[in-house]
Amino acid sequence: MNSSTTLFSSIKLGDQTLTNRIVMSPMTRLRADGTIPTELMATYYAQRASAGLIITECTMVSPLSNGYMNVPGIYNQEQVEGWKLVTQAVQDRGGKIFLQLWHSGRVAHPSLINGELPVAPSAIAAPGTLHTPIGKVEMETPRALETSEIPEIVEQFRQGAKNARAAGFDGVELHGAFGYLIDQFLQDVSNQRTDEYGGSIANRARFLLEVVRAVTEVWESDHLGIKLSPSNTFYGMGDRNPRETFSYIIKALNDFNLAYIHLMEASEIDLKNADVIDPVLPVFSPLYQGTIITNGGYNKQKGNEVLAQEQAQLVSYGRPYIANPDLVKRFELDTKLNEPNPKTFYGRGDDENAPVGYTDYPFLATS
Ligand SMILES: Cc1cc2nc3c(=O)[nH]c(=O)nc-3n(C[C@H](O)[C@H](O)[C@H](O)COP(=O)(O)O)c2cc1C
Repeated sequence: MNSSTTLFSSIKLGDQTLTNRIVMSPMTRLRADGTIPTELMATYYAQRASAGLIITECTMVSPLSNGYMNVPGIYNQEQVEGWKLVTQAVQDRGGKIFLQLWHSGRVAHPSLINGELPVAPSAIAAPGTLHTPIGKVEMETPRALETSEIPEIVEQFRQGAKNARAAGFDGVELHGAFGYLIDQFLQDVSNQRTDEYGGSIANRARFLLEVVRAVTEVWESDHLGIKLSPSNTFYGMGDRNPRETFSYIIKALNDFNLAYIHLMEASEIDLKNADVIDPVLPVFSPLYQGTIITNGGYNKQKGNEVLAQEQAQLVSYGRPYIANPDLVKRFELDTKLNEPNPKTFYGRGDDENAPVGYTDYPFLATS
């Protein structure tokens, strides 16, 4: 099938209209002031407000959900006030912005979370290192959550969505990808529980679906999206049968009338690491009845192609958005893109160099 839909076609997302189908993918940039969003962050997001939709960097739902230094939170009033600067700046420029709700689970370290042991579905360490206040350290074996502790974490997501709404966001996206807590529950490499949250696929999906239900109790479901990465291998992720696992999840999400599901393709590293599903979109797109954002390695041409084929309704761009605040304009004019500099992807909010590689990428000259 071929349609005339392009990246520049508007689209309804529930009761909201996006002016184009170019989405800024969520990207951690580590420039919060401690956990508080700053004016600099408001400038950064406002620079990118011409995107049809911005999804913010992952944002902690509780103090113990932290995997990195200078990640913003959404669990206290100061953070809500900080985020208001961001939502206001984006919406003043006609943009739409969702907050990405995040719990890092086993991707954490005691030195980041008040000396406590990170929590996870099972006591299985993620491979790899993290930058922490005590330097670069290996991740430790987390503590398996007691069944009785899980409702409290579901509640943190609900409160996070409530706070995001109070901060003026247009919606929230659950971070169900990339090996963090929700993904840790979904995939059997990190979930070997024997209670009702482990074992069968239905059990492994229970935590995610409880979070979806909780969030939709405080915000209409068409203000909620979810990001999934069936082929991600980062942080030691994997599943014995990802096709079956993610098919179950995506079909189950049909019941909720969500704003969208956001599906990430395999990266080059994933393709080298394992025999992952590639491409992801054609496998899962037929199973989902709502809106799909596709992500991973897209340029303008590939984005337009996938929309014309009607496999997805929106396309999200990560790295191109780091370096091109006016990506929409550049796509419209078919001009050259700025190259992102990976050395400044992750910064520090309290550092005078925080704007470097963050808010100083050039716009096209206007003549
Ligand atoms: C610096 C950086 C930080 C990222 N942080 C997040 C994040 O916080 N949440 C998330 O879901 N994905 C995160 N990602 C993944 C991107 O959203 C996106 O899925 C990935 O970059 C692939 O898209 P691209 O090929 O257009 O860059 C990050 C990527 C980069 C480069």
